[in-house]
Amino acid sequence: MKITVLTLFPDMFPAIINDSIIKRAKENNLVEVNIINFRDFSNNKHNTVDDTPYGGGAGMLLQVEPIYKALISIPDYKEAYKILLTPQGKKYNQNIAKDLIKHDHIILICGHYEGFDERVREYIDMEISIGDYVLTGGEIAALVVIDSIVRLIPGVLGSKESYEHDSFYEDSLDYPQYTKPREFNGVKVPDVLLSGNHKEIAKWREEMKLKSTVERRPDLLKKIK
Ligand code: 6GU
Repeated sequence: MKITVLTLFPDMFPAIINDSIIKRAKENNLVEVNIINFRDFSNNKHNTVDDTPYGGGAGMLLQVEPIYKALISIPDYKEAYKILLTPQGKKYNQNIAKDLIKHDHIILICGHYEGFDERVREYIDMEISIGDYVLTGGEIAALVVIDSIVRLIPGVLGSKESYEHDSFYEDSLDYPQYTKPREFNGVKVPDVLLSGNHKEIAKWREEMKLKSTVERRPDLLKKIK
């Protein structure tokens, strides 16, 4: 899978994409991440990519031309799935992440400043927001999308199991887990987990997933199959 990011802040990306699981996925050629600074496609000698809104009003808007020029500089941009990160987008969740890994190439366009020229919308396939709050730009949202999809690419995590019991994988939360020691400050590991009875353990885990979801995220329950 290929991911291309269009941003005015390319320095925000290396710390995340060159570390841990994403780094390993890149080294194993499971994902390729390219960062493009669309300031390089500015149409003026000052390298600006924003301007004042027609009709007046406060703030500056990202211009459509530099974004368009950056897009068409990507050889397969026509076939790629183009996503705009904006608080006005569809609210991101695990099911969208699962859908996105079906694409060979995803382009993430990070908005910034007060907004963008509406005509940017002519060139994109989807808009994503990562939640109901406002960030100063789309970069952190793009990193959220990248992190959440890379770990779903087959081969990135050790075994399929590593994400199939994740919280949200089937619209429920994960079951509680314990490691050594058996008792800490008076709190013991549930006996069933020490029983060696795999059938009982699996049953307990299913029950705990449901209990946890009911208690913490009852809103998810209507979605559970
Ligand atoms: Cl994608 N961008 C910005 N600027 N703010 C957000 C967001 C995106 N998602 C939630 N808040």
